[in-house]
Amino acid sequence: MKSDLNRNNVTYYQLEKIRQDFPILKKLIHGKPLCYLDNAATTQKPQAVIDALVEYYSSMNANIHRAVHHLSEASTKAFEDSRKKVKNFINAASEKEIIFTRGTTESINLVANTFGRNKLKEGDEIIISGMEHHSNIVPWQFLRDEKNIKLKVIPLNDKGEIIFEEFEKMITGKTKLVSIVYVSNSLGTINPVERIIETAHRNNIPVLVDAAQAIQHLKIDVQKLDCDFLAFSGHKIYGPTGIGILYGKQNILESLPPFLGGGDMISKVTFEETTYNELPYKFEAGTSNIADAIGLGVALDYVSGIGIDAIAAHEAELLKYATERLMEIPGLKIIGQAENKSSVISFVFDNIHPHDVGTFLDFEGVAIRTGHHCTQPVMLRYNIPATSRASFALYNSREEIDILFNGLKKIIEVFS
Ligand code: ALA
Repeated sequence: MKSDLNRNNVTYYQLEKIRQDFPILKKLIHGKPLCYLDNAATTQKPQAVIDALVEYYSSMNANIHRAVHHLSEASTKAFEDSRKKVKNFINAASEKEIIFTRGTTESINLVANTFGRNKLKEGDEIIISGMEHHSNIVPWQFLRDEKNIKLKVIPLNDKGEIIFEEFEKMITGKTKLVSIVYVSNSLGTINPVERIIETAHRNNIPVLVDAAQAIQHLKIDVQKLDCDFLAFSGHKIYGPTGIGILYGKQNILESLPPFLGGGDMISKVTFEETTYNELPYKFEAGTSNIADAIGLGVALDYVSGIGIDAIAAHEAELLKYATERLMEIPGLKIIGQAENKSSVISFVFDNIHPHDVGTFLDFEGVAIRTGHHCTQPVMLRYNIPATSRASFALYNSREEIDILFNGLKKIIEVFS
């Protein structure tokens, strides 16, 4: 089956072939074909990634950077090759700028604990936005309480966009960091990060971009963006859980102290003092998550094989189609109607709780997420307890959106 993109002459997108690459998509849930629309929470894994994990543990498992035996050298090479793939994928200037972490959350905590603790002093300010995930709020609150700094929050308009003029007004001589989400996981909004970075840099303020929901949907070139830090998680881009990336500009990373202390991050240790390893190892204490780092490299190869622009075009079409269909459903209100949106649709009904929506759809084989999506301040802003959220990935189809639509229509019938 060719996707509709072919009709529009955008590109040839081999959806049916792509779907064959994901074994989980063949699963039946309550006797119905799995219709997986919870991709903002985590994406499914192609066979190539699953095979890479099995292959690693079957034929290569050994600790890295530590021994001269064959397995250790093979494992080290595969791990470092994966770092190169990440560097190329986001077009970093050097592999030294690519730090393996457990995920976006750890990456942001790393910046808060190194940059934040060392470069900020009492009275300084950090700017975040009203649509941040908890992982881009709580680490800064820890820092705020420890150092007595101020956390400023860019307000959102009713469509779910940041109010840019308010951001500009917030900048003062004390602003030391802007930490902003690229794509909102609960609203789908794509933030104007280029403009934010330009504005911040005009005021000599570094910018951290939380790309957890952007990396799998948009082409990211860190040199073009000129961001100072960028964080993402492997599992949102078809890779394993427990692995993520912190990108940081080399000169900034070099000026920071280590985050965690332990093996591999040191150069020399005596009981009196320790000197640290060079980048990127300075920030990778202990045995790394070797297999999953390798799996992430394979996931990036997979995405590059299809092409991020083709994926973005496919998902844009799914978003358009799903938005049109969902708007036909009486009583359904979409939360997050930004002009520039990624493939996430959050919605509510006046009289049906999102958990009932999620449970009902599950019996139709449809997986969506319900709740606050780790963005409780967004729920407060729009005065709702929770939303139902359908989020689309490279393997989703229009037919699956029809299944969601039909499931929602059934819910309306049952609840009325
Ligand atoms: N942050 C993830 C989500 O949006 C878990 O669901």
